[in-house]
Amino acid sequence: MKVIVTGASHGIGQGIVSRLAAQGCTVGMLARSEAALQDLQERHSTTNAFHPYACADLQDPNATATAIAKLIGELQGVDALINNAGVVIRKDIFDLSLDEWHAMVNTNVNGLFYATRAVLGPMKEQGAGHLINISSISGKFPLPGGSAYAATKYACTGFSQSLFQEVRDFGIKVTTIFPGSVDSQSHRHDPDADSDWKVTPEEVGQACWDVLNTRPGNCVSEVEIRPLARPPKP
Ligand SMILES: NC(=O)c1ccc[n+]([C@@H]2O[C@H](COP(=O)([O-])OP(=O)(O)OC[C@H]3O[C@@H](n4cnc5c(N)ncnc54)[C@H](OP(=O)(O)O)[C@@H]3O)[C@@H](O)[C@H]2O)c1
Repeated sequence: MKVIVTGASHGIGQGIVSRLAAQGCTVGMLARSEAALQDLQERHSTTNAFHPYACADLQDPNATATAIAKLIGELQGVDALINNAGVVIRKDIFDLSLDEWHAMVNTNVNGLFYATRAVLGPMKEQGAGHLINISSISGKFPLPGGSAYAATKYACTGFSQSLFQEVRDFGIKVTTIFPGSVDSQSHRHDPDADSDWKVTPEEVGQACWDVLNTRPGNCVSEVEIRPLARPPKP
């Protein structure tokens, strides 16, 4: 299976890449950090599977389209796109700067749209494909102290659920994933705090693999994945 993953360089994206590569997928990786992508490529490529990468800023529609076209070319096709890249800034409206707001909107909403558009042509033509959009529990329930981030994740949810209705007749599946707290390492408030209670990035990758393996006529449209334990009391 040929799968493109955005935001592959860190956190949840890395976990998705590692699970899919272990399952025998060829993974096209997209992000801005070339050194991290190169490292992942070296770690996961084998004599039988080479995982290409492309560097692009998802805030730029042309750079995104070019990078995705390059990955589709190197993969010689695309079966699925996992829209995982995102900027997570958990601040309330009094503390969030305009630059932070624009970074979240431009990446989490515009970037999601640009990347999706870049794969839909080939998927429509082949009459098959799968879009997996990583929303968040904060794209379903209010997040006090993170209103701007939640707004972008609600946008992801609305886009994803509506897109399902627009593309299903072309044989294209859409799955919205709603993770709770994931130990992506990037967002630990305290690097020494216990994060074992959280979902791991690889477990989100496993959820992606599971939904990619439903039979052609069956689409798992939503998945909520949460830690069983509640956050430890401060
Ligand atoms: N962590 C959680 O608890 C949690 C829970 C629910 C949902 N989520 C969602 O899961 C996704 C990943 O989160 P994470 O925790 O893994 O975050 P992360 O560790 O900060 O990773 C974010 C990824 O997105 C990429 N990215 C960010 N801005 C980009 C841009 N402009 N262009 C291209 N790539 C960009 C980053 O790569 P570069 O910096 O190399 O470009 C990185 O690979 C996000 O959509 C987030 O909303 C996270």
